[in-house]
Amino acid sequence: MTLPPLVSERLTLRGWDPDDPQDVAAAYDIYRRDEVSRWLGAHPSPWKSEQAAHERLLRWQSVGFDAPGFGIWAIVPTGGDGPIGSALLTRLPDSEGTLTEDVEIGWHLHPDHWGHGYATEAAVLLMAHADETLGITKINALAYPGNDASVAVMQRLGMHHRGETDRWYGVHLQWWSTPLELAAETGPA
Ligand SMILES: CC(C)(COP(=O)(O)OP(=O)(O)OC[C@H]1O[C@@H](n2cnc3c(N)ncnc32)[C@H](O)[C@@H]1OP(=O)(O)O)[C@@H](O)C(=O)NCCC(=O)NCCS
Repeated sequence: MTLPPLVSERLTLRGWDPDDPQDVAAAYDIYRRDEVSRWLGAHPSPWKSEQAAHERLLRWQSVGFDAPGFGIWAIVPTGGDGPIGSALLTRLPDSEGTLTEDVEIGWHLHPDHWGHGYATEAAVLLMAHADETLGITKINALAYPGNDASVAVMQRLGMHHRGETDRWYGVHLQWWSTPLELAAETGPA
């Protein structure tokens, strides 16, 4: 599914291209790292090879997204050498893997690019896209206990801590969401 490019002062978000060797190499260099992959997915595990990265980027073209405007974008700094991370807007799977109506936002950066505000800037772009293009203001963010860097992004975005939950992915996670006054407009979680 083609993702719309989203542009801020310092960043462009655009779809990952599994046919572009630079995208495949960049994705592999991010997700082969334990300090990134240890926090991701129901079964955290570093990517093993560029071939595995290629296959993952192919899957990211469709898996988990049942409507236009959802997906996993590459984060590309203006004037940089290519992708430095991912930002995602997806539907959350329940413990059986079935997609729910609940929407998740997420962020992953290459460690060389931590500490510059890129994850927060990308998330602001995605939240504006969700609101203006998809009409979605209720957005969830999840993190494994101990992922303080990701929780700090949620706090910078003004999200609210909702407690811990195992309602998605079949995994026990910290649950944050967009402010309750916005969430109330689109119903309960
Ligand atoms: C989670 C993750 C994306 C956070 O990255 P991050 O760089 O700390 O977060 P941001 O990009 O929002 O950057 C914020 C930092 O940049 C600093 N910063 C520097 N220049 C900035 C600028 N111009 N604008 C905003 N912030 C800036 C902020 O002060 C802050 O630093 P601090 O943490 O020392 O207070 C990163 O740790 C990561 O990729 N982790 C592995 C994957 C992961 O866990 N993903 C989340 C799964 S739930």
